[in-house]
Amino acid sequence: MHRIAVLPGDGIGPEVTQEALKVLETVAGKVGFEYETIHYHFGGDRYLETGEVLPDSAIAEFREMDTIFLGAIGHPDVPPGILEKGILLKTRFELDQYINLRPIKLYPGVWTPIKDKGPEDIDFIVVRENTEGLYAGIGGFLKKGTPDEVAIQEMINTRKGVERCIRYAFELTRKRNKEKKLTLCDKANVLTYAHDLWRRTYNEVAEEYPDITKDYALVDATTMWMVKNPEWFDVIVTCNMFGDIITDLGAMIQGGMGIAASGNLNPEGVSMFEPIHGSAPKYRGKNQVNPLAAICAVGMMLDHLGETEGASLVDQAVSDLLSSGKIPDLSAGRTGLTTTEIGDMIVQRIR
Ligand code: IPM
Ligand code: MN
Repeated sequence: MHRIAVLPGDGIGPEVTQEALKVLETVAGKVGFEYETIHYHFGGDRYLETGEVLPDSAIAEFREMDTIFLGAIGHPDVPPGILEKGILLKTRFELDQYINLRPIKLYPGVWTPIKDKGPEDIDFIVVRENTEGLYAGIGGFLKKGTPDEVAIQEMINTRKGVERCIRYAFELTRKRNKEKKLTLCDKANVLTYAHDLWRRTYNEVAEEYPDITKDYALVDATTMWMVKNPEWFDVIVTCNMFGDIITDLGAMIQGGMGIAASGNLNPEGVSMFEPIHGSAPKYRGKNQVNPLAAICAVGMMLDHLGETEGASLVDQAVSDLLSSGKIPDLSAGRTGLTTTEIGDMIVQRIR
């Protein structure tokens, strides 16, 4: 019995979550596992009504779950940072979800903006460090609002945090068994302390993985190669901020935000799965957006729960639907099909 916390969140979050749960239910029926969902209605609306963001009691409950599913966070009437830090980052940090796993995979039949590249070229995974770096939230202001203002935001890199992330990436590269190449994406030529720590740690851990090809790419060059030669990549490991940026680019080359999913993993604890896209408030409640990213996040969640058969059912259904050419362009908010129609199509294929 899997206990799953569900946070539909804001904007289109509830709509895509509904389709994702529909798919989960279908897979569970087909494969034969049991699960229970516990819904939490945190997000912009709750905050505007009550001032509550995400209480510590909810975090305590999350710790008792097997996993968490999140729709989307972000509300146009709430100033930036409050919900992002208060819900998403708080959960990532408190549950020590130190890996953000983001597969960049172009399914057959999906349009990519990169000329002459296809599914065989665009298939890699970004391992993003998820609890440190510029996201740690350490810093402050001096003389705020004056001409002499100073703003400091510190980039935190701990040996332990960097090492566990890099080690996870090496293990994944080995398991993935593709080109067995792990690219360290950093800015070691400028961040000569922070990313010197990353390079040294990478090189030391690499000694334990002689079967993995070592590869280094500066982050600016990484963005260039992701467009020019995406086939060069197998697994990329990188810091929190760079991982955030390059995975939006990754989502675009795999066909758009409509298909990009991610997992916030604590391999020894409770993990959280979510589509990479945001809450897209302008589409809220319109039944127009494509729920495939949320559905793919359910696939990743099932894999993580050990339901590998269920996970491949989801992956196969998504792949079949996309190669059928019924949804050729995922890059726009709307595809011409409704949210529920796409959910139903996936459900039918799984059945
Ligand atoms: C993401 C998002 C978040 C991040 C925001 C909403 C805080 O962009 O998951 O990539 O920056 O990590
Ligand atoms: Mn992001």
